[in-house]
Amino acid sequence: MTNKIDPYNYMKGFGNHFTSEALKDALPKGQNTPQKCPYGLYAEQLSGTAFTVDRKNNQRSWLYRIRPSVCHQPFTKLVPKFHHITNKFGIDDVHHIPNQIRWSPFKLLPENNKKTSVETNFVHGLHTLAGAGDPTTKNGLAIHIYIANVNMDNTAFYNSDGDFLIVPQYGRLDITTEFGCLMVVPNEIVVIPRGIRYSINFPDGSSRGYVLEVFGNHFELPDLGPIGANGLANPRDFLTPVASFETKECDFTIINKYAGQLFVTQQDHSPFDVVAWYGNYVPYKYDLGKFNTINSVSFDHVDPSIFTVLTSKSAFPGTAIADFVIFPPRWAVQEHTFRPPYFHRNCMSEFMGLISGVYEAKAEGFLPGGASLHSHMTPHGPDSVTFKKASNEELKPVRVADGTMSFMFESSLMLGVTEWGMSNQVHIQHDYWEAWKDLKSHFDATKEV
Ligand SMILES: [Fe+2]
Repeated sequence: MTNKIDPYNYMKGFGNHFTSEALKDALPKGQNTPQKCPYGLYAEQLSGTAFTVDRKNNQRSWLYRIRPSVCHQPFTKLVPKFHHITNKFGIDDVHHIPNQIRWSPFKLLPENNKKTSVETNFVHGLHTLAGAGDPTTKNGLAIHIYIANVNMDNTAFYNSDGDFLIVPQYGRLDITTEFGCLMVVPNEIVVIPRGIRYSINFPDGSSRGYVLEVFGNHFELPDLGPIGANGLANPRDFLTPVASFETKECDFTIINKYAGQLFVTQQDHSPFDVVAWYGNYVPYKYDLGKFNTINSVSFDHVDPSIFTVLTSKSAFPGTAIADFVIFPPRWAVQEHTFRPPYFHRNCMSEFMGLISGVYEAKAEGFLPGGASLHSHMTPHGPDSVTFKKASNEELKPVRVADGTMSFMFESSLMLGVTEWGMSNQVHIQHDYWEAWKDLKSHFDATKEV
């Protein structure tokens, strides 16, 4: 499975109970905590759900490591001026705006080989753009943009607040985790559940991408209902790393995101010292190009939920804290239909990003590395150029979205935009509303279609 752009090996499947050994027989046989573990390793459980969660939803892994995670000095708080993360999403903390909002591409940092360059790693390059809820009550989400240009040398990060779904847009992510290594290429995503320690390098230099953080339920595959047993993102296409470890003894920095704040500590060895592990609480990646796209083959534009890759459920049936939805290349064949996304108002918040190419419902302005937000009940739809074209085009079967990949983070919560998201460090397109201003009335009371 290894290749030039991804040198690592993986195990296949979503939600599997995996076992992986970097040294033969490093996993204890028949029990979790023998009096003495093989090779003198320590046993440590990482719980992703409460001990008492029902068996089909319970998630945990057992790690067999050179030292337990507890071997570190006390954490101290990193003052906010050294980072750009917030999880304060109250009415007075963020901007709740009923307008359509669109950001031009978030500016990449210069390459770190330039003398004028600032050095920013993944954690320090995370900028919270929007969010809702609160990680302390495990209900809500945050959307971050990362813009970074240096590796996390001898530094590891873990998140106590939520799970990160990372969408690289520019540059690969070379990720070392306690479970092994993953290389994540734009058009792939990676999910790193809370608690797992990892370090990200940027083999392609200056990089940019999007992060969806969910504080509550872990991501799962959506139910398929009448679609049947197969389709959308198929479980076999999710890849989890194999165990690998390092024995490095040096000053190692551990950064923890905890209640929306960053804390930092030191230890004298690498945390990536897990020699073997087993369990179903793991990091994983997924190639969006493997999505089995399902759509209308008769008439009408189907609701975008048909493109859901992963969902984090709320307590309300059928209502997500966050859905991760993509708009992949596909055929459009609907007859007597306005084929682009319809005009609508939604009781959910829709945050969209573009990994590559040109989005099908907007002729211009929505660019790779940029974003848009249409929050609760904010009207939106195709721009006037797209409307005119799609209302008059010949409806033969055509390819849609070839060479592109856009995505949506859709949430039942009302997203507020942070100070950074409104600041002059980003570029909000204040003329975005004009995308619809040329939509004229075609009403004629004397004419039936
Ligand atoms: Fe929408």
